Amino acid sequence: MAILITGGAGYIGSHTVLYFLNQGEEVIVLDNLEKGHQQAILGATFYKGSLHDEALLTELFEKHKIDAVIHFAASSLVGESVEKPLEYYENNVIGTHKLVKQMVKHDVKHIVFSSTAATYGEPKSIPIKETDPTSPTSPYGETKLAIEKLFHWCDGAYGLKSVCLRYFNAAGADPEGRIGEDHTPESHLIPIVLQVALGQREHVQIFGGDYDTKDGSCVRDYIHVMDLAEAHYLALQKLRRDDKTAIYNLGNGKGFTVKEVIETCRSVTGHPIPAVVSARRPGDPATLIASAEQANKELGWKPKYPQLEAIVRHAWNWHEAKPKGYETN
Ligand code: UFG
Repeated sequence: MAILITGGAGYIGSHTVLYFLNQGEEVIVLDNLEKGHQQAILGATFYKGSLHDEALLTELFEKHKIDAVIHFAASSLVGESVEKPLEYYENNVIGTHKLVKQMVKHDVKHIVFSSTAATYGEPKSIPIKETDPTSPTSPYGETKLAIEKLFHWCDGAYGLKSVCLRYFNAAGADPEGRIGEDHTPESHLIPIVLQVALGQREHVQIFGGDYDTKDGSCVRDYIHVMDLAEAHYLALQKLRRDDKTAIYNLGNGKGFTVKEVIETCRSVTGHPIPAVVSARRPGDPATLIASAEQANKELGWKPKYPQLEAIVRHAWNWHEAKPKGYETN
């Protein structure tokens, strides 16, 4: 039996593919390579194409004995989603609808879904629990929440069982340096800071210095991408074992300010990394920290790399070895 991983050429997807292959699973990847990199897929059977290609989806489900789906394929930039809501609803909600239609048709009952802390919007309390209110502040968060709800109703109607994983801030890279993060343009904090260390940018901008946090910059919960990958595997094991729908937060339960992240990058890289405080980025909550107690308890998930230092070190190993990302391969 094979596992279909959609979006398996992307950052979190490719690390999850690697993790599943290491567990001896047979993996099929579907990715349109709009944002992903084929070089990031180490060893799976690869199909280039989109969720909107129903003929390709049919072929894939008919040709392979797919026993579960791990679903990453999506547009995933908060700011861009505000500019292009139609594109986000089409890619994320309609794309998932087409995927689920095929799953139901081919009697595939298990899906692990890449959801996000953006489903909560501005949090009411910290740390954030799965039972806290969801009120997204962007089309990105809205589409992810809409998909979670689609899964809920499909459970009742068709017995489709899902585990939705709400990630906080994914960071780091494969500890062995084989794959890492490569977005164009880059918008995430840690790779941007490391680009300064590499001399590719003059300085990093700190978006907002007047938040109600210990040093005025935003607080986030950074979680190692390989720990996220493992959570997908544990989620699938749980689906196979218990056959029950669930939602889990994935984070370390510890927050770091933007200034602390930059400081950690300075100490890991030995580079001064100039930083300039600039205006707030619209839509950024001051603090996002996960309560991942449920995932710890029910999935048996315990992050292997909870220290920010290890997360940054693995990211730095990758960026230093591949300063142009996959282009240099
Ligand atoms: N930041 C800067 N300067 C930069 C880039 C980021 O100060 O050049 C700050 C941001 O303002 C934020 C923090 O660094 O406070 C982290 O920003 P990222 O862009 O790396 O990540 P986000 O917290 O904005 O986004 C992440 C995921 C999204 C998800 C969101 C949930 O990448 O997919 O968390 O709110 F939707």
